[in-house]
This record gives sequence, structure tokens and C-alpha cells, in this order.
Amino acid sequence: MAKTEDYNLGEFTFPRGWFMIADSQELQDKPLALKFFGRDFALYRGESGRVVLLDAYCAHMGTHIAKNTTSFVVMDGQIEGDSIRCPYHAWRYGPDGKCDDIPYHDGPIPEAACIKSWQVEEKYGCIFVWHDPEDGAPDYDLPDMPEWDDPAWVRWQIDHMGELDTHPKEIIDNIADIAHLGPIHGSTLEYFESEFRGHIAIQRQGGGHKTLVTSNALLETDTWYTGPGVLMSTVKGLYDALMLITHTPVEDGRVKVWHALLVKSDNEKATEADIETARGYQEMSCQAFWQDFDVWSAKRPAVQILQLKNDGPFHKAREWYRQFYNPRAQATERQSKTDGVYTVDWMPALPEAVAAQGHRY
Ligand code: FES
Ligand SMILES: [Fe+2]
Repeated sequence: MAKTEDYNLGEFTFPRGWFMIADSQELQDKPLALKFFGRDFALYRGESGRVVLLDAYCAHMGTHIAKNTTSFVVMDGQIEGDSIRCPYHAWRYGPDGKCDDIPYHDGPIPEAACIKSWQVEEKYGCIFVWHDPEDGAPDYDLPDMPEWDDPAWVRWQIDHMGELDTHPKEIIDNIADIAHLGPIHGSTLEYFESEFRGHIAIQRQGGGHKTLVTSNALLETDTWYTGPGVLMSTVKGLYDALMLITHTPVEDGRVKVWHALLVKSDNEKATEADIETARGYQEMSCQAFWQDFDVWSAKRPAVQILQLKNDGPFHKAREWYRQFYNPRAQATERQSKTDGVYTVDWMPALPEAVAAQGHRY
């Protein structure tokens, strides 16, 4: 397992950005104990529906707030309003992380009775956190997805791909990787190009595909990272679809991964049959992603790539990724080193007719 330092990514062990930490459906009336970025968290949903992420350990004596099943505090329901009680001595913390009640204490609550509260956002059935080693506010937004609220589209159910003893860098390489599309995914490529623009990294490709289209049709995808951990792709194949792949560092050199697919039906409002079709298509998409996963789960780290000219712009993708491991004050200068469109000699760039249809990014 290689670490951030081995890849020479930058000053920070974990990157700045928006990262998925949970599937909304996992978060019911009990808090979840999570581990990401090498630290422990307690995630819960307040009675108003608000999602709250706190560091896991109580300021009093260090109890893990979300890892207890036997305390009467927990058995009686530890969430009150949008606050949560610690299992050990029942101190209660608000969504801002400040202790707002100590049952056996009169007088003011000490300032230090506080745990860090993290900025979270719930969107398209996922819960995201803003992680920043410099503790700044978000410098970009999560992508919008109006299709989520369009009844013609079948909402996804998230595929939990699990964790890999792999640095997320190895996953990022995929955005530039033209030469794996044939061997791994069975594509017969007709065009391919890469673009980096600020905090966005894009791949546009089209070609035949063994599973996701019928015999002569093209599978066309427009795929983009918004920051280092959230990938979306508009997929034109058997159906119009939007793919989501998210990955979040658990520890240095270990990553957790999710996949999902939103599928457009032919009806104004998707029917039961459309939902079934969409689930089947998501399964096929998941299998296609599994082909990448299969390699990642058993490869040694590619700290150095034995790179060929026609491999696609791995070096640009790696440079692009470095901006998130370094102070944001350097981001603009770093982006200027990678901003641009990149093609390889052996494959045409995006055809004008396709470009004319417009793309999301
Ligand atoms: S350790 Fe949490 S209330 Fe005492
Ligand atoms: Fe792939």
C-alpha cells in the first residue's frame, strides 16, 4: 500500500474537497460511527431531518458518541431535537458541536465542552463532507443534478463497492486512461479527449461497447471530476443515464468507493417497469465499474508509471490532483500547469457534431 508521501502529492496527507461519507438511506434514527481521513466521526440525523457530523469523541472523557449499544442514554434514544447525548454521562451536544446540556451540572457550561462540527451537505441521496486541511470554507460547489427531481428519471440506489487498500491516486488515473477502455471494458473507441479546467477534470469518449449498447450503437460518455472525490458521467447508451462514482480516503492508502446510476425512462413519470429496467441497467453499469475495481484490488501501486506517449495524459491528471494536497493559495498557479484539452495521436478528438450537442462541462 502506497501513501500520499510516496506519490509526492504535496503537503497534506488528505486532500481538500467535497467527499461522500454515507448513503442517505443508511442514516436512520441511530448515529453512525464513521472513519475517514484517518479520524473518527459520529454522523446523525436530527429530528428536523438535518444531518450533523461531529468528531466522534466526547470532550468530557473521550467516549465515542456513536459506538455504544448498551447505555440507557442510547437505549432511550440519544438524539434530542438536533442534538445528541454522549452515552457515558449524558452530556448533550448541539449540531454546532457545543455542549448544550449537562444533566448534573449547574452554572455555565465550559467553553472547552465542545467537539468539532463539520460542514455537510445532503444531495441526490448521498451525504458529503467538506474536508480542508487548512480549515477554510468550500471553494467550489458540488455539482447540481436537476434530473434527481425529474419524475421521468429513476432515482438510484447506491452500490456500496466497499474499501480498497489502494491510494485514491490510482483511481484518479482512470480519468486519463485511454488504453484500458478496450481491454478492460470491451470498448471499440472512436474518439477520446481529456480536459482539465480548474478543479474539474474531464474525459469525453465514444465507441462501441460490449455490454452497455446494442450491436452497432455508440456508447458516449462525458465524464468529469468535480474536485478530487466526486465523479459524474452523462452516459448515452441503451438509455440516457447519469453515473456517480465517489471515493473517499479512509486512511492514508485506503479508500472507500460507491457507484450509482440515474436512468431516464421514456415516460413523463417513470413506471414500475421503468424502475425495474433502471435497476438492471445500473447493475450492468456496476459490472462495468467492477472491471476497474478488479484490477485495483490486486495491483501494486503505480508510484511511477512507465508512461508511453500514447497512454493518455496521466502526468497531467496527477498534476491536477496535486492541487488538492497543497495550500489553496497555490491552486491557481497549479491549475495553470494543467488547464487545457489533451488528445493522443492514435485516436480522434471529440467530433464537431458531438461537440455541437453541447456537454455538461
Ligand atoms: S465522556 Fe461523554 S459525557 Fe462523559
Ligand atoms: Fe475504467
